[in-house]
Amino acid sequence: MTNLAVVGGGVIGLATAWRVARTGRSVTLYDPEPARGGASWLAGGMLAPVTEAWPGEEDVLRLGEESLKRWPGFAGDLREEGVDPGLAGHGTLVVAFDSADAGHLDILAGHLHSLGRAAARLTGRAAKRLEPGLGSVRSGLHVPGDLAVDNRKLLQALYDACARRNVRFRRERVEELPAADAVVLAAGAWTGRLHPLLADAVRPLKGEILRLKPRRGCLPPPSHTVRAVVEGRPIYLVPRGDSELVLGATQYEAGFDQAVTARGVRELLEGAERVFPALTEYELTETAAGLRAGSRDALPYLGELDGGVFAATGHHRNGLLMAPVTADAVVAWLEGDEPPEGTAAASPARLHQKEHV
Ligand code: GLY
Repeated sequence: MTNLAVVGGGVIGLATAWRVARTGRSVTLYDPEPARGGASWLAGGMLAPVTEAWPGEEDVLRLGEESLKRWPGFAGDLREEGVDPGLAGHGTLVVAFDSADAGHLDILAGHLHSLGRAAARLTGRAAKRLEPGLGSVRSGLHVPGDLAVDNRKLLQALYDACARRNVRFRRERVEELPAADAVVLAAGAWTGRLHPLLADAVRPLKGEILRLKPRRGCLPPPSHTVRAVVEGRPIYLVPRGDSELVLGATQYEAGFDQAVTARGVRELLEGAERVFPALTEYELTETAAGLRAGSRDALPYLGELDGGVFAATGHHRNGLLMAPVTADAVVAWLEGDEPPEGTAAASPARLHQKEHV
């Protein structure tokens, strides 16, 4: 297979196009607005598999951990292309407000230790020493090895790296699969429209997200990614240096609706105020809603659908995290190499199994 068509110009499509173009293949990427819009443009950018996976999602966790390991090399390769992927190593602090949350942190800590990852349980006071702007938290969990990436810097870096490697950009919406030796479907929540096997398997999962900037005299954003569950709803605050804070995210099913609701904004702000009270004085600079590519089991669909057509979609809440492992998997499929660990469980072959709901 010498030429590849990639459908979708979000983080998965761009990472795939760049990685494959580096092998010397000719690559064409189809997207009306590559590196803009879509879930990647709105992402918080946490690269934190353990705190993002739900209990029971072991395959998601394994794949996320595999991709996290690949992130420093992936970012280093981008830097070698002369572009800045916006990778930050500021770690995660998960905070608990009540005893149920604290119990959950104990489980997360155990999970991280079993993976050989460093994680420290903290009293409320110790959590506040680490992050002085926190509200009245009961306890915390510090995960220093988690990374974060500035999603918009990353998209620009990938776009530039693709251009340097002579990826051709076709700024058009794909209705019929392009003619090429191999086609990778990476159109996020819209991928279900491109192949019958994915039609009912990929669904949009709406998420609202806010961006805020500290005004003069305000406490700067936290120095870690801070996560919490407030009123049963998970939220995260991801700093972009000292100048911006990304606050996310709601999650619910609303078809392809991308309106920002007053309720979504209220819930996020109310939750965030408990976690980091100084934020109420920040300037609210952006409210936005996007569609994650939901799968049936939170694992993406990675692999061949039929004769040369491959799925790289359904990344659920984990598109940015899983971009390196996904792109490396595509390279391995095309080269006939062993795909990365954890990708076999994500094969779309599971869509043929009756028990897969
Ligand atoms: N990974 C964060 C989110 O999907 O909201």
